[in-house]
Amino acid sequence: MIQFDAKTRTFYLQTPKTSYIFQVYREDVLLGLYYGKRIAPQDVSFFYQNVERGFSPMMAGYDMEHPLSLDTMTLEYPTFGLSDTRAPAFHAVYPDGSRITDLRYSTHRILKGKPICKGLPQLLAQTEDAETLEVVLKDKRGLVEVTLRYTVYSDMDVISRSVSVKSTAKDPISLQKVASLNLDLPECDFDLLQLHGAWGRERNLEVTHLTHASHVIESRRGASSHQSCPFLALKRPDAGEDWGDVYGFTFIYSGNFAIQADVDQYDMTRLQVGINPFDFSWKLEPGDTFEAPEALMVFSDEGLGGMSRNFHHACRHHLGKSKYRDQKKPIILNSWEAAYFDFDEARIIGIIESAKDLGIDIFVMDDGWFGARNSDKTSLGDWTVNSAKLPGGLKPVIDACHKNGMKFGIWFEPEMVSPDSDLYRAHPDWCLHVPGVDHCTSRNQLILDLSRADVVDYLEQTVGDILAQNDIAYVKWDMNRNMTNVGSVAFEPERQGEIRHRYMLGLYDLMERLTTRFPDVLFEGCSGGGGRLDFGILYYMPQFWTSDDSDAIARLKIQYGTSMFVPASAMVGHVSACPNHQIGRTTPLKTRADVASFCNFGYELDPARFSAEEREAVKAQIERQRRMEPLVLDGDFYRLRNPFTGNDAAWMLVSPDKSEAVALFVQVLAVANAPFTRLRLRGLDPDATYQIEELGFSAGGDALMHGGIPIEARPGDFRSVTFTLRRI
Ligand code: DGJ
Repeated sequence: MIQFDAKTRTFYLQTPKTSYIFQVYREDVLLGLYYGKRIAPQDVSFFYQNVERGFSPMMAGYDMEHPLSLDTMTLEYPTFGLSDTRAPAFHAVYPDGSRITDLRYSTHRILKGKPICKGLPQLLAQTEDAETLEVVLKDKRGLVEVTLRYTVYSDMDVISRSVSVKSTAKDPISLQKVASLNLDLPECDFDLLQLHGAWGRERNLEVTHLTHASHVIESRRGASSHQSCPFLALKRPDAGEDWGDVYGFTFIYSGNFAIQADVDQYDMTRLQVGINPFDFSWKLEPGDTFEAPEALMVFSDEGLGGMSRNFHHACRHHLGKSKYRDQKKPIILNSWEAAYFDFDEARIIGIIESAKDLGIDIFVMDDGWFGARNSDKTSLGDWTVNSAKLPGGLKPVIDACHKNGMKFGIWFEPEMVSPDSDLYRAHPDWCLHVPGVDHCTSRNQLILDLSRADVVDYLEQTVGDILAQNDIAYVKWDMNRNMTNVGSVAFEPERQGEIRHRYMLGLYDLMERLTTRFPDVLFEGCSGGGGRLDFGILYYMPQFWTSDDSDAIARLKIQYGTSMFVPASAMVGHVSACPNHQIGRTTPLKTRADVASFCNFGYELDPARFSAEEREAVKAQIERQRRMEPLVLDGDFYRLRNPFTGNDAAWMLVSPDKSEAVALFVQVLAVANAPFTRLRLRGLDPDATYQIEELGFSAGGDALMHGGIPIEARPGDFRSVTFTLRRI
């Protein structure tokens, strides 16, 4: 998978269908040579043209007759201050106040498997599945040593990259920027696809053509956020869903990130992924090492679909240790939209009893069960049972779940504190804040300072106590505001630029401790819906509440956009009541279930309100979901119709052996005298015959993919149809 040609000093990283090639070039500079469709290892140094260009400074010792300028090279890991004037991947301030780094190749090694980087989320691999290349670069002045790490996997076209920085200076240095990935591509004719959003409408597709400028997709909110997403694709303008060249990038990190695509004067594109350098600095003591989180890159010549399936594979098979990553997920009934804060023991037990015999696996008591929490104004941080609402504690509720054939799950928002809480009164200095500056609240809450070890210890203990003392099968881990007032009284002034990243390290430590201590608990991530849905959180928590907007039609876009890099197995979708609580729309129960069924499935309503007919429909939906679960867990996802560009949406899941598949088609608004339309399926075995359950006939995989299934015109808005295929 990884070879080094000592003669040409060239590294060849081969995945099943892609190649990544770079070289130790003259002056021991790392020169990027190729990333794309797999080619045989060969000397491709002719790709680089070393020519003199006006206003591109020369490296020391070179001149116009004998040119060598970093400014015109495709570089592997550019630094600041010498002959490359583009965005550096690395920027530091040294003890003498200088900011120039001159990294040159020193050594490398190729390892079987993938070393673990403690304290950060990352892809994992068995020794026989992967190979890792570590290239050590040393600063010419001896101030810093940078190790570039690349892992290739035998089962996917994903390359993971990370960077560690060791200070070899005599006094502390200050890191200003450490990109985890730099990729210089020798061309710029790309469309940039990003996912932007807001609370309740996450991950909308937006495509723009790259221009000669800097394009930065970033978060400054202390979370990967609803507004932007640590994902970006560069596709050739003619690339589509199923064909054409696409590069995809994501970052295994949940805090401030920046993914930047810059086009330079020579039509080359520099792509970087890393911690957002905005408001970031890190004081590195002599001999200490800073680890930049892992970034992933994919190349696919099978369009956006091929790119997505590679990210999905990485998430499903290499991300995280939760045993639930590889298991069919339980079907959930969540109390939030059923009762909000307005419940007591009798009401909660009433909801549980009304769910009896529906087939639900876990009942989840959402927000409102602790402290004096009757609204969002109070009690975050006081993780003791609200005795006014639940005088008998959790036990009667848990017993009621068991009596009615369900397990019990519970909601926490561990990272937060309400100013009106015992925790805040006891420890006002435990929140992120700068003394003397007014607090900004959001949803009436402040953020605990997880950069502090004592706060992390407290949270492990209090959340851990509830989990240890009660029979709890599931935790929904919520996070309902973004960062302001970032500062920590636990750290000295010159370390204040570290707090956002130290917070993430504290959060990951807390998640690591709790998920390791409670391996049987299924942890679900949430942040006001999908406000922190990234590969960092998915490392610890294998599923995420995709959006607070539970409306099935709004979810078409949200799930479609999210699927660009997140698999169905990591999304959570629930059937909620109508009119929908977020947008007031009424959609058929079938459509609600059909859309949610392409996620980890559940309900978010009061089953007591079902009619007898609806109860039967729900039982049938749950039975159907049981059959679909293996596909949600492990199916390959194909997007068929784009809801951002048309009146309908369609997608499908195909089992890895292609013996089973389920497709969904939703027509958003009714159309009079509708035109004929056929849904062309994807991913099937062209030589196999499939029985289509809903249509009662069979057809060849080739006919279904190239001819398609005619979609019957149906009256009414928001109609869905599914097609369940079995190879015969
Ligand atoms: C935001 C979440 O996204 C909702 O599902 C719910 O858990 C509320 N928080 C509770 O406050």
